Amino acid sequence: MADADPKFPGFSRDTIDDAIVNPEVVANEAEIHALYAKLRAEDPVHWTQPTGFRPFWSVTSHADISTVSKANSRFVNRFRTYLSPIEAEDWIKSTTGDTHLFRTLVDLDDPEHMKLRKLTHEWFLPPNLRKMEAKIAEIAKDHVDRMAAMGGECDFVNEVALWYPLRVIMHLLGVPREDEPRMLRMTQEIFGAGDPDVVARSQHLNQTPLGSEQQVDLMALAQEFFAYFGAITADRRANPKDDVATVIANGMIDGEPINDLQAMSYYVIIATAGHDTTSSTASGGLLQLIRNPDQMAKLTADPSLLPLAVDEMIRWVTPVKHFMRTATEDCELGGKQIKAGDALALFYWSGNRDEAVFDEPDKFKVDRKPNPHIAFGHGVHLCLGLHLARLEIKALFAELLPRLESIELAGEPKNSRANFVSGLKTLPVRYRLR
Ligand code: HEM
Repeated sequence: MADADPKFPGFSRDTIDDAIVNPEVVANEAEIHALYAKLRAEDPVHWTQPTGFRPFWSVTSHADISTVSKANSRFVNRFRTYLSPIEAEDWIKSTTGDTHLFRTLVDLDDPEHMKLRKLTHEWFLPPNLRKMEAKIAEIAKDHVDRMAAMGGECDFVNEVALWYPLRVIMHLLGVPREDEPRMLRMTQEIFGAGDPDVVARSQHLNQTPLGSEQQVDLMALAQEFFAYFGAITADRRANPKDDVATVIANGMIDGEPINDLQAMSYYVIIATAGHDTTSSTASGGLLQLIRNPDQMAKLTADPSLLPLAVDEMIRWVTPVKHFMRTATEDCELGGKQIKAGDALALFYWSGNRDEAVFDEPDKFKVDRKPNPHIAFGHGVHLCLGLHLARLEIKALFAELLPRLESIELAGEPKNSRANFVSGLKTLPVRYRLR
């Protein structure tokens, strides 16, 4: 293990460069936020060379993250999307001939990105989503009923929050209910592959043993995704329905039907991006309400605050911890000379605690206004599902809070150990529900 960086005393576990990619550090909120705060104050665009990773610039201020996110032709997505060890990046390249296992919206640049995004853009806008409101409220009620039936104690993550957005997304994609455990396992393995507890949970759900080689598992996982959604594409071409799977399967790009790889990649991004993100936010939001009884009381007394509270939960949790970009030309950022070809990691969680933008950033306030958080990114890749995510989280708390007579922790909450998409992996609670 490397020595502590003398510039950042207090990070004795690793150098700051190793710490910022270390899932153990990301899982320790106090530690990672102290590290981000130091970087924002002392070196907001920091050249980072962690052991086992290709180097990159760590971008930690709200302003710089926004600038990079909006300059989509100067900072592109197609080369490196998220932080991955050199070994894993090289393996993917040697196996697929490409830098990515999937080519989803977040791994593409315009013009191809925009052509694909346009297919579903309108479907995810509020006027169309309004059609889904009643169904989402029904799914939220089902999950709170399930919680009530559990007799006053549950693990909110594993028994409620993981299943609720999954049901919504699977409903959108037209996946039958009996296949939900399989979908849960696949999304968990993609995002939580580095965390033995998350992998154990996914194995338990499907009884499918993972090999010792995580990289081999990812390839098998890709094949499994493709086989599953290939059948859905064929079905929606033959029998169109009123769901987003039908929009994708029958999409046209430049006057030609969407090809199978493009359609599959679309399902993959929706199935994965729309799941863990929303469930982590719901669990993390509930934990903050439990830890801040004054905020819980304020919200319960005035439900019109719910939309603000939802955005505060999203800011607080920031389930997508970073995305990456690659510079296409030499330029300056935060006083640093960025060279064409340099990679940049945009640490959204840091931007969302930036004291230059947020009043008392380390306080959870259900009535925070304004709340210009960047948890959904910015620019042409701005989260496609942001309205859906807000709708889902709002529906869950709109059902839960009026029925909740009391709630407290029944054990220690634990975060998943992942540095890309992460959040609580267990939240034991004791409660009385009407
Ligand atoms: C992209 C966050 C929920 C679908 C993104 C990005 C972020 C993000 C940070 C990348 C933005 C950028 O690079 O500038 C979140 C958060 C969520 C959430 C915090 C929940 C609280 C969802 C949901 C869906 C979804 C429910 C369902 C469809 C997508 C897609 C993209 C995306 C398809 C790629 C967009 C593109 O590259 O054009 N999301 N997301 N997300 N998200 Fe979400």
